Amino acid sequence: MFSLKHQPLTITLLNIGWFVSVQAGVASTFAGSPTSANFPPSGAIVSAHDSFFPGASAVGFAGPTPTGDEADSVVTAPAVAKMDNIFPLIKPDSADTKSKLWDTLPVASVKSFGLPNTSPLIPKDCELSEVHLLHRHGARYPSDGSLRAAFAGALNAVATRGNLSASGPLNFINTWRYRLGAEILTPFGRSELFNLGVGFRMKYSDLLKVFKDLPVFRTASQARMVDSALHFAVGFFGVQDFQREYHQLITIEEEGFNNTLSPYFQCQNGGNEIAGLGSDKALQWADIYLRPAIARLGRFLEGYDLQVEDLVAMQLLCAYETNALGYSAFCHLFTEEEWKGFNYFIDLSLLYGAGPGNPASSAMGIGYVQEVVSRLTQEQITQFKTTVNGTIPIYVDATHDIVLSRILVAMNFTSLAANGPLPIDHIPENQISPFASNLVGQVLECPTGASKATHIRWLLNDAVLPLTGISGCKPHSNGLCELSTFITGMRQRIEEVDFWFDCFGNYTVPNPDYITNGQFPPNLRN
Ligand SMILES: *[C@@H]1O[C@H](CO)[C@@H](O)[C@H](O)[C@H]1NC(C)=O
Ligand SMILES: *[C@@H]1O[C@H](CO)[C@@H](O)[C@H](O)[C@H]1NC(C)=O
Ligand SMILES: *[C@@H]1O[C@H](CO)[C@@H](O)[C@H](O)[C@H]1NC(C)=O
Ligand SMILES: *[C@@H]1O[C@H](CO)[C@@H](O)[C@H](O)[C@H]1NC(C)=O
Ligand SMILES: *[C@@H]1O[C@H](CO)[C@@H](O)[C@H](O)[C@H]1NC(C)=O
Repeated sequence: MFSLKHQPLTITLLNIGWFVSVQAGVASTFAGSPTSANFPPSGAIVSAHDSFFPGASAVGFAGPTPTGDEADSVVTAPAVAKMDNIFPLIKPDSADTKSKLWDTLPVASVKSFGLPNTSPLIPKDCELSEVHLLHRHGARYPSDGSLRAAFAGALNAVATRGNLSASGPLNFINTWRYRLGAEILTPFGRSELFNLGVGFRMKYSDLLKVFKDLPVFRTASQARMVDSALHFAVGFFGVQDFQREYHQLITIEEEGFNNTLSPYFQCQNGGNEIAGLGSDKALQWADIYLRPAIARLGRFLEGYDLQVEDLVAMQLLCAYETNALGYSAFCHLFTEEEWKGFNYFIDLSLLYGAGPGNPASSAMGIGYVQEVVSRLTQEQITQFKTTVNGTIPIYVDATHDIVLSRILVAMNFTSLAANGPLPIDHIPENQISPFASNLVGQVLECPTGASKATHIRWLLNDAVLPLTGISGCKPHSNGLCELSTFITGMRQRIEEVDFWFDCFGNYTVPNPDYITNGQFPPNLRN
């Protein structure tokens, strides 16, 4: 499934001694070639078989290899390492301010959710006993058939007829080409997941010592999901060991297959106009915040009538091109205010598409909640006929951001939307941007030395989440809730969510003011 062998026909390497030695006896005409620094030299015919390129364990001679202790920086370190490594991307500038833009682009952001005096570090009087990680995939190309591809296509059609003329700040469009793929991870996305794996190893791997069997990491089957899961594993275990040190469970992500990590395939209202609620709301907002930009930029483009959707596409292109190509000329076209507007555009599309404002969100997230309860209680799931292995103390699941956000709603982390429904005509004060890239559950023994797990808390990226939206969980400065109370709350939540009605009911979405925790309001059901 994953091969790290050399591919001599596609990779150009300097012809250094190491490479010559694995090549020896096969194709001596170009081993150590004096005529070319490229491998293989142009014109050389390579007949070498893969078995001439043995892996490191077959070659041997690894030198001394004592390992260090497992790390647990979440317990031992005095401070938290922030997730802010963007190398090798170029930090974009906006039209009016320098270097502010990055904060507003949708990359992993680190926010406090109302618990400013705590951190992911394990509280002093507690001991870590389990950790659950749910992470999204890394940076990727846009969806197939997305706005940005449509914009590029339309622009290209005009350009092909020879009618397009761009000038001023849009001058670059005269020679611009759409160069993005679709759906799969970008190289930068690979580094994000690799880094996440490294980070998780450094924070939590002391827990590995209690494993008798191999841990199981799960992912859905889409290419970018599997790619993300494997890069995480390589970061976590190292490239030489990762295939031997855990089991990678790949669950089928397709219509007709139950899968808590891609639940929209089992939920009709996750794929129709109810799911489109988010983009409807976001586009209404775009009509407001991008109007000045149409006037400002439209006059530099002859032969093409810029629409609001085109400008949204340009903003998305800034983010996607930066992620995929390292740099985008679209970024500096927009002001800082318009980038804030764009950030809010993303918030609206998630909040109403896959967050608390969509009536099918909780139904789609609730399967994972059942799995969490099953893992915490070590009881098998009988409802919904899913089975989960509840005997392993590290849980790692790879999923999509829209699934992560639905799970947050299903768990009733309503503090993320504490300000109520979001308006579409302005950006509210204190608005929270809740959707980010990974959710970690820390199961704790407090006080230290308690013989079993007593508490749990949840972190979204680097921020501890208040659990006060869950009935029974009291306000706590470190975000802790008693484990048994939390489990009772989750069971109540599973009862509260009407999977069949919310996913398969033929209903009109009521006034968004009534939808606050991702469910069709029970009192309006008929
Ligand atoms: C596009 O160019 C063609 C040929 O140059 C011309 O006949 C046509 O009127 C132009 N269309 C527009 C919309 O400018
Ligand atoms: C799949 O999910 C549906 C809906 O929850 C359930 O009725 C069905 O039994 C599940 N099937 C399997 C094989 O898990
Ligand atoms: C869970 O996984 C472990 C390790 O693979 C295995 O020994 C155990 O039987 C599994 N338990 C269940 C309930 O499937
Ligand atoms: C979930 O939140 C709603 C209010 O937003 C509340 O009425 C309900 O009791 C909560 N459910 C649980 C299980 O905490
Ligand atoms: C949903 O209900 C409407 C109005 O009652 C009806 O026209 C439509 O056909 C129904 N759709 C489905 C998929 O059943």
